[in-house]
Amino acid sequence: MKRKLETLVWLTRKRSIQFLIGASLLYLVLVTLEIPIVFKSDFTTVATRPPRLLSEEDSQQRESPARPLTTVSNADSPSQLARRSVVSALVLNDAAFAASSSDGSLELYRLASHARKAGRSLWEDLQSGKLRTVVSRPENRSGSCPGSVALAGSDVSGVVPLPCGLTLGSHVTVVGTPLPARPDFEPKITVAAGNEPVMVSQFVVELQGIKTVDGEEPPRVFHFNPRLKGDWSGKPVIELNTCYRMQWGSALRCDGWKSKADEDTVDRMVKCEKWIMDDEDHLEGSKATWWLNRLIGRTKKVNIDWPFPFSEEKLFVLTISAGLEGYHVSVDGRHVTSFPYRTGFTLEDATGLSLAGDIEVHSVFAASLPSSHPSFAPQRHLDFSSRWSAQPLSDSGVELFIGVLSAGNHFAERMAVRKSWMQHRLIKSGVVVARFFVALHSRQEINAELKKESEFFGDIVIVPYVDNYDLVVLKTVAICEYGVHTVSAKYIMKGDDDTFVRVDAVINEARKVPDDTSFYIGNINYYHKPLRYGKWAVTYEEWPEEDYPPYANGPGYILSSDIAHYIVSEFEKHKLRLFKMEDVSMGMWVEQFNSTKPVHYSHSLKFCQFGCIEDYYTAHYQSPRQMMCLWDKIQRQTKPQCCNMR
Ligand SMILES: *[C@@H]1O[C@H](CO)[C@@H](O)[C@H](O)[C@H]1NC(C)=O
Ligand SMILES: *[C@@H]1O[C@H](CO)[C@@H](O)[C@H](O)[C@H]1NC(C)=O
Repeated sequence: MKRKLETLVWLTRKRSIQFLIGASLLYLVLVTLEIPIVFKSDFTTVATRPPRLLSEEDSQQRESPARPLTTVSNADSPSQLARRSVVSALVLNDAAFAASSSDGSLELYRLASHARKAGRSLWEDLQSGKLRTVVSRPENRSGSCPGSVALAGSDVSGVVPLPCGLTLGSHVTVVGTPLPARPDFEPKITVAAGNEPVMVSQFVVELQGIKTVDGEEPPRVFHFNPRLKGDWSGKPVIELNTCYRMQWGSALRCDGWKSKADEDTVDRMVKCEKWIMDDEDHLEGSKATWWLNRLIGRTKKVNIDWPFPFSEEKLFVLTISAGLEGYHVSVDGRHVTSFPYRTGFTLEDATGLSLAGDIEVHSVFAASLPSSHPSFAPQRHLDFSSRWSAQPLSDSGVELFIGVLSAGNHFAERMAVRKSWMQHRLIKSGVVVARFFVALHSRQEINAELKKESEFFGDIVIVPYVDNYDLVVLKTVAICEYGVHTVSAKYIMKGDDDTFVRVDAVINEARKVPDDTSFYIGNINYYHKPLRYGKWAVTYEEWPEEDYPPYANGPGYILSSDIAHYIVSEFEKHKLRLFKMEDVSMGMWVEQFNSTKPVHYSHSLKFCQFGCIEDYYTAHYQSPRQMMCLWDKIQRQTKPQCCNMR
């Protein structure tokens, strides 16, 4: 009896506790949703607010913040202000760049000072709301593109526009004559023997994405390059490739051997057809052996059907047609090569035909062209669904902060990052935080879009200067500042918006280092020297030393936060030496830090610089489509694999 009573009492108590828990949960939910959205006229307080729930579906996918933001008030501490700001808290003022330094930073400081002033005025205009109506609408291009283009040779200069790009079934025909070989002392395609010139005749037919980017070299959607007098291989070849942000893919080379019987075909056509070698003249006898050998695979005894499709001063008719699986190239009516489409290079982006090199062009025809284009406005890539917006920062301490360098008009790149590796559970749960670091664009309508984007997704930190390749290093300092002061992360990583990050693999590398050890992890270069000539030359004023310090390649490296802290405090004291290459700068700062406290350097090729390798930690030069493809793959496979080809 007594026991029964006790049980009853216990039960009622339990029930009231449950009720209490339930009530407090309800309270928490209410508090979370009712948080006032703090907007002030001053840009520093635009909130990185918890995104509003738009539908029931959203509420199922959204994880609630680890703790409700109960600290919204007007008297915020600087770090709380920074948390809700879209602008970097890095102090960029006249004093920051007034440093009279003799170590080569001077020119950079001067540049930075200009960029900062211009940036401030752009941002002020933007804040004042003057530009709200300037924002460009996607162009109305329906019915605006011709179905065909025909140009006579004299009209072909520079790039022939194909305004709406290509579509399935489109074909482009070029009638031309290769010019006779000329002596070349610096042939890029082969090694010159001593001071002897090499005879070269080569030309390039390219489909380029002339409208997809702004202020950068257009992507080469399809590159076709016959080398009539041969190249380093010593025989005539045709090279086919793609190129994105100055980074070539792996070339397809046709050198006269027919593709192996077991190799992939493109719309059932071989990638490379065979042609006569100069030193082969056994026409008939080898036919039987060729048939036999074809069953086994590639053979040295190739039978002869026709010669190399191009010869000097001989007119040719070349046609590129867009098939289901790739481009097909025929010359004088015969199929020569087929090139499978590559991820990230789309037909609709091929909006220009470029003809260059040792070629005289007689005429160009393009037909079966699409009459409309989805629109070229880059911001069309943004997908304003709260599914993709950032979690509010939790107070529980962040283990890894990832700062991603991006440029104002890289809307598609950022969207692909949001939809791929930023969906990682470690980011969703707040253990890892990732933010884009973007400077202002010289075109204000891009900035207006950027501001909208940053307010919606809450994952952009604007570093208020006008963007410039030589000032990227400022974004790196801003990443350290944000990682140290705003999120108080234990480790800080830097990436690019074309870097795919395997968040769990990267954090594991950092966790392997004992807790109190300072570290610098990445794909580390030792004994590299500055390039002193050419387009990317580094002058002695910029870098007086003969060698670079050991430095990790820029697309992905991690630091312990004490190093980042040191960098920020040196910057704030105006003592930080800046160099235009952000990764070399980082190597230099870490080396300086190492002179007071030893740094554990850790090198791994899995922070891949040139692209992607199997089992990578980070992959670089990944186009938006490749990002999505990599993310799909790591979801489905245990061993991370690349998405190099279609
Ligand atoms: C686009 O332009 C065409 C004619 O050029 C017009 O008929 C159509 O209504 C326009 N569409 C929009 C959305 O403005
Ligand atoms: C770091 O410092 C130690 C001595 O303090 C030195 O032996 C080592 O070479 C330094 N490492 C680098 C990469 O500079």
